[in-house]
Amino acid sequence: MHTIQAGTVELSYADFGEGLPVLCVHGFPLDHSMWQGQYTSSMPGVRWIVPDLRGFGASQVSSGLVTMAQYADDLAALLDAMGVDGPVVYCGLSMGGYVGWEMADRHRQRLAAMIFCDTRAASDTREMARGRQLLADRVLADGPEPLVGSMLSRLFHESAIASQSGIVKSTKRVMETTSRQGIAAALQGMAQRRDSRTLAATLHLPVLLLCGVDDGITPLTEMEELARTMPQATLVPIPDAAHMAPLENPQAVNRAIEEFLRRI
Ligand code: MLT
Repeated sequence: MHTIQAGTVELSYADFGEGLPVLCVHGFPLDHSMWQGQYTSSMPGVRWIVPDLRGFGASQVSSGLVTMAQYADDLAALLDAMGVDGPVVYCGLSMGGYVGWEMADRHRQRLAAMIFCDTRAASDTREMARGRQLLADRVLADGPEPLVGSMLSRLFHESAIASQSGIVKSTKRVMETTSRQGIAAALQGMAQRRDSRTLAATLHLPVLLLCGVDDGITPLTEMEELARTMPQATLVPIPDAAHMAPLENPQAVNRAIEEFLRRI
């Protein structure tokens, strides 16, 4: 892992391979390692740039709420600091997808194409936003424990949970060691995020949508609906996967990404 000053924050990131830069942005409350099935795959002609967002993994934690726009600005600053001037392919899972909409809005000139995994364009309902605020307060008081219990079983396919597979154990470790401030900042930022469905419907970039067929957090039906509204989107359902499709079924995800990159 490398660290670099990216605008107002020090970010940690992995950098593998050579070729077209693919910027992979993790979900909540995770870190770069959820993309291990991609950056260890040695896909020809691809450079994987895989950061930990502000407040996650080994990146600097800042105080107060962090908006999806702030994460996107951090990523643009990261590319600047790394000297990556040409367009990149943005690839985000779930919260990484929410950041992707802001990237498309604020830094469109940096993007060649986009990949959205297990995510949505709609904002939170009032009830969801209230739940996030309560959870943020609880995590600040008690640490990540309450979140780990409630989230882990929703991230993975039930067979992975039942067998306590390596990916479940390592994801649990990541969640348990994430800073409580980083978690609370993201929960509050997600609660405030705007509705990006209009932006999605006018996004004239090649887009690949991926979704685990058993995803209960961002269901396949919702991503199918999103695909119908987007001008240049292709949806590929990922079998044997729930919310963490790139980690649960890296072969199918990598096949879809490789084919997409060949076409753009
Ligand atoms: C994620 O995986 O990033 C989260 O499930 C996103 C969310 O809580 O909306």
